[in-house]
Amino acid sequence: MRHATLRQLKVFEAIGRLRSVTRAAGELHLTQPTVSIQLKQLSDIVGLPLLEQIGKKLYLTQAGQELLNTCGVIFEQLARFEMLVSDLKGTKAGRLRLSVVTTAQYFIPRLLGRFFERYPGIEVALEVTNRGKVLQRLADNADDLYVLGQPPEHMNVQAESFLDNPLVVVAPHDHPLAGQRQIALPRLAEEYFLTREPGSGTRLAAENHFKDMGIDLKVRMELGSNEAIKLAVAGGLGLAVLSAHTLALEKNSDEITVLDVQGFPIRRQWYVLRPADKQLSIVAQTFLDFLRTESQAMARSYLPQIPAFMPADDVPDANERAMP
Ligand code: PGA
Repeated sequence: MRHATLRQLKVFEAIGRLRSVTRAAGELHLTQPTVSIQLKQLSDIVGLPLLEQIGKKLYLTQAGQELLNTCGVIFEQLARFEMLVSDLKGTKAGRLRLSVVTTAQYFIPRLLGRFFERYPGIEVALEVTNRGKVLQRLADNADDLYVLGQPPEHMNVQAESFLDNPLVVVAPHDHPLAGQRQIALPRLAEEYFLTREPGSGTRLAAENHFKDMGIDLKVRMELGSNEAIKLAVAGGLGLAVLSAHTLALEKNSDEITVLDVQGFPIRRQWYVLRPADKQLSIVAQTFLDFLRTESQAMARSYLPQIPAFMPADDVPDANERAMP
């Protein structure tokens, strides 16, 4: 391995992580033949194949998996060193990998805007996906920090809450329940509901809440994103439970409305997580500090526009219940 270059390792790490030569080439801004040549040279140096193709899928061989783990350690150390140097020079620079649940995309980019203003030298790779996939990335140690609505029960993580995440019931503005005060929960069982896809944290929290309250909802349709749900609610296809954050950028605010339902909003929090034994890079630590100090103020700038964003001291805290 003495003759392997850092460039070859970078190329291999991207292919191994993305399980695709094309996507690795895209991420590294290289051509596909360049990437393939680097990979070939590296496996010649190792003397064993690193990847194997079965059908259309790429798999890591045992040597490949070991090398991918080694690359993880090398690049983490190098990133720490780069940060240390830029810290010594008085500037913060480096790369931050973040994985956030789809519902967090309503505030994380705003926060990143301010973060970039303060630390222009920091680059961010942001992965936005649902809870199930964020947890998978956490298990694979794919990123520096993870943002989701509830820490997992069976993983050894450090989790801290940093912001409220109330879940509300939304309906089309001309719905008969719109404008009514303190709608009784059982009344919702008469309505059709739209729900997020399996793996969604919002869906899981809403299901748990209704189950706890003994309410059986009529689910008419499953949709893969908060935006799709909002459009379907506006189109009169049913009601839905969504995070109040998803309404913050609401352009169709005259089309959907938040219902005043007993026991709502469901009180949740946003959590930032990392594996319990993970040592954060200086960039990740800088972002974590930023999240702690800036997110409340940032959310205050847009959440008050949402009528249902109010503290609800008398409803059970959904975060007290564990989620898988
Ligand atoms: P979701 O996540 O986007 O997967 O619904 C929200 C959450 O974890 O609360």
